Amino acid sequence: MPTNLDPADRAKFASAEGALKFVEDGMRLGLGTGSTAAWLVRLLAEKVQSEKIDITCVPTSSRTRDLAESLGLKVTTLDDVGWLDLTIDGADEFDPELNLIKGGGGALLQEKIVATASDQMLVISDDSKQVDHLGAFALPVEVVKFGWETTKAIIEDALSDAAVAGDTVTLRLSRDAPYITDEGHYILDLHLRKIEAPMGLSIVLNQIPGVVENGLFVDIADAVCIGYASGEHRIMKPAREADDVLSTP
Ligand code: A5P
Repeated sequence: MPTNLDPADRAKFASAEGALKFVEDGMRLGLGTGSTAAWLVRLLAEKVQSEKIDITCVPTSSRTRDLAESLGLKVTTLDDVGWLDLTIDGADEFDPELNLIKGGGGALLQEKIVATASDQMLVISDDSKQVDHLGAFALPVEVVKFGWETTKAIIEDALSDAAVAGDTVTLRLSRDAPYITDEGHYILDLHLRKIEAPMGLSIVLNQIPGVVENGLFVDIADAVCIGYASGEHRIMKPAREADDVLSTP
């Protein structure tokens, strides 16, 4: 581990380093987005070079693609490979069932497509993202630009009937202008404080015209590699699962 990292980055590094053990020669690998995923990409590039292994990477954002390519990783598209063995990605929150909130970095749409097209999804995270209930982190929802204010009003209306503790919706900005995703959409951030039923809310949101996708990942993640500032990590599996996923090599 680099010596000059602050505690938060040490934990992210430890998480990414722990996840690297699940990467095997010949894999088709989904690469997540965010600061933790960036550590994974850097460490993966070192591993590929030192172990001379063949890994085909599908990034979940233009940022991750740029980083992976700059480090010499073999990068392609999801359409080229069709399906992936494993996706490793960060999260903004995870609960005991490993339901996630994602999209803090604005890449939730490609992240969800890639994770869903993978045999397994391994989340990399420091321990600060572990929660009993999702919702303290604002839930990102990607919407098309056309009629976005109407879409926002319909979402606010839907939230009044949903099992959530807050209902404020804000347009995500970047330097005073709307944030634009890789797919050319806007992001609405839903300040819900507590989400009682993630699957139900996800279904309700995705039925609203104008909503492209929401940042709830329900029943998608197979395990979380939790990193600590001490440099240690541990693998956490969802309470519902038996021990047959992502057995430690
Ligand atoms: C990107 O859109 C997000 O889903 C990230 O995976 C999430 O925000 C975690 O990012 P960090 O690793 O930077 O905390």
